[in-house]
Amino acid sequence: MFLTLLESSRVVTQATQATADPPSVFLEDMGCQMNRLDSELVLGKLKREGFRRVPTPSEADVVLYYTCSVRERAEEKVYGHLGALKHLKREKPGMVIGVMGCMAQNLKELIFERAPHVDLVVGTSRFEDVAELLGEVRHGERVMALDRKDLGFDRDISVRPRQHTAFINAMRGCNKFCTFCIVPYTQGRERSRSVEDLIAEAKQLSDDGVVEVTLLGQRIDTYGLDLNDGTTLSKLLTRLHEEVPGLVRIGYITSHPNHMTDDLARAVADHPRISRYLHLPVQSGSDRTLKAMNRGYTVDEYRRAIDLMRNRIDDLSMATDWIVGYPGETEEDFTASVALLREMEFQGSFVFKYSPRLGTRAFDEGDPVPREEKARRNQVLLEEQRVISLRRNQVRLGTEVDVLVEGISKRDAGKYTGRTDRNLIVCFPAGRDLTGRLARVKLTDCTSLTLFGELV
Ligand code: SAH
Ligand code: SF4
Ligand code: F3S
Repeated sequence: MFLTLLESSRVVTQATQATADPPSVFLEDMGCQMNRLDSELVLGKLKREGFRRVPTPSEADVVLYYTCSVRERAEEKVYGHLGALKHLKREKPGMVIGVMGCMAQNLKELIFERAPHVDLVVGTSRFEDVAELLGEVRHGERVMALDRKDLGFDRDISVRPRQHTAFINAMRGCNKFCTFCIVPYTQGRERSRSVEDLIAEAKQLSDDGVVEVTLLGQRIDTYGLDLNDGTTLSKLLTRLHEEVPGLVRIGYITSHPNHMTDDLARAVADHPRISRYLHLPVQSGSDRTLKAMNRGYTVDEYRRAIDLMRNRIDDLSMATDWIVGYPGETEEDFTASVALLREMEFQGSFVFKYSPRLGTRAFDEGDPVPREEKARRNQVLLEEQRVISLRRNQVRLGTEVDVLVEGISKRDAGKYTGRTDRNLIVCFPAGRDLTGRLARVKLTDCTSLTLFGELV
């Protein structure tokens, strides 16, 4: 295969003949967890073709950006990176530059228009063909691959950034069409993988040393509904728990309030190795705004979805997403968001300033809330959340928790860091490497984002 690629790619052949080194690839991913996983799959494919990964574009024969379109800033950042590559490509004309993922699917040939030195635009359903597509670039032609096809989910499990934890793609796409959101357009309709496939992948990962998997889906609680055979997320979680005993932790993100079921709450409550963390984006605390957004629930229905889970799951830890400055969001609507944030006692909030996306239903409404006002609302929610997160963490001081150790802390090389089954980040000193293991830690101090402790 390695030879085939060398023969089929002018670019790679030139670079390789000169140095006799294997072809090199620089890849940066910039979106959600789903993107991170897809870019890992791309690296897996390229590794099989003989590529080695390099840490900077200047060392690379092929430069790939795995992109996000969810807000305008994400796309602008990619154009910024592409702009910086212009002179490099002039020096190294053989270099191939590719844009992959959601922004490729969203902007299509516009990317070539704005960044003419890009060679390859690959959408969200064609990343598996990356090696062949790179081969096609050899004709000196630009290649664009955007058509939808069923993904084979063929994965090289040896390519993953962390040894002990891995994402698994349970489903792709979204059918909800919230008015602000580009995801249904970039990722297509919901497609679930079979339970058997997912268990096989989890087993493979577990045999290779993975102790934690996180199932990914845009509305993970709709997992299986499109299969029309009674498959549900709760059944999948239960079977993973029973059939892959090597997994210490099984997580699932992201949930949608319309699909919380008592079955799911029960499955989590009855199986100790399923994560006690729920990511349930609410977006707004105002019924009027929720309706305008086509979210499909009222604030009261959101409360009920949460009660369903909290009633069964002890000390459930919850995070949510908010959008501030959605078109027409008044001060009163915003105040309702602040009130809901306080009431719900979330562990964490991700707050986003509304960004109009061409092609979505809200686009025609423009962007009437001024930038400064959006920034203010953003700050208010973040500050409110900081106070709650800190208080929630302080209550835990003095207790002991089991931490799944992820490795050495980036902030403090003398400490290890990991997460509890409630997705709380814990930092603690340790005399030996406990990466990938469960450590019992007594909590002694905290900030709003991190808990600190001592090994018990
Ligand atoms: N599937 C998830 C979210 C996917 S996008 C869900 O349904 O909740 C992640 C988050 O980005 C969203 O929850 C939303 O808060 C934010 N987001 C999406 N589109 C946005 C836009 N146009 N402007 C600002 N934030 C946006
Ligand atoms: Fe976007 Fe809404 Fe689908 Fe989430 S549920 S991915 S916010 S359309
Ligand atoms: Fe994810 Fe961004 Fe696409 S949030 S699904 S990478 S638009």
